[in-house]
Amino acid sequence: MKVLLSREAIRDRVEAMGREISRDYAGREPHLVGVLKGACTFMTDLARAIEIPITMDFIAVSSYGAATKTSGEVRLVKDLDQGLEGRDLIVIEDIVDTGLTLNYLLNVLRARGPRSLKVAALLSKPSRRLVEVQADYVGFTIDDHFVVGYGLDYNERYRSLPDIVVYGT
Ligand code: IMP
Ligand code: MG
Repeated sequence: MKVLLSREAIRDRVEAMGREISRDYAGREPHLVGVLKGACTFMTDLARAIEIPITMDFIAVSSYGAATKTSGEVRLVKDLDQGLEGRDLIVIEDIVDTGLTLNYLLNVLRARGPRSLKVAALLSKPSRRLVEVQADYVGFTIDDHFVVGYGLDYNERYRSLPDIVVYGT
C-alpha cells in the first residue's frame, strides 16, 4: 500500500506538536483523554513529546449504526476513570473525518466542567466535514483517502503499521 505519511514524518510532526502543547500549557498540567482505539499510538507518542507534567485517561465510543451518519450519536463503551471538573482537558483523536463523532463527544465532555477543552488530532480530512468542529492542534491535513496504520484501522486490521498508508493502493 502507498505510504502517505512516513514514520519519520509522523515522528517529527508529533514531536513538534508536543513542544507546542508544552509551551501553551506551561505551568499547568493538561489532562489528555485518548479516544480508543485509533488514537492509542498517537497518544503515547504525543504524551512522551510533551515536556510538562500530564495525566492521561481513555474513553471508548462505538457508533450506533445508521443513525450515526446524521447525528454522530455514539455509545460510550468505556467511560473515563476520572472526573474532568476544573481540568485542562485535551481530547486526543486519530482523525477528524465528518466531525460527527468528535462533535458529539465534545458536548458530552464539556458538560463535565473542564476548565478548558482543546482537541489534538493527528489527521484531518476537511473535505469530508459535515459539522464544524474545533481541532486546535492538527498533525496533518489530508485529502479524502481512507488511510490505515499508526493506530488507524480497516475492520480492526493494520493498526500496527508504523507508517500511514492509503488503504487498497
Ligand atoms: P467522523 O465522525 O466521521 O469524524 O469519524 C471519525 C472516526 O472515523 C475516526 O475516529 C476513525 O475511527 C474513523 N475514520 C475516519 N476516516 C478514517 C480513515 O481514513 N481511516 C481509518 N479510520 C477512519
Ligand atoms: Mg477513532
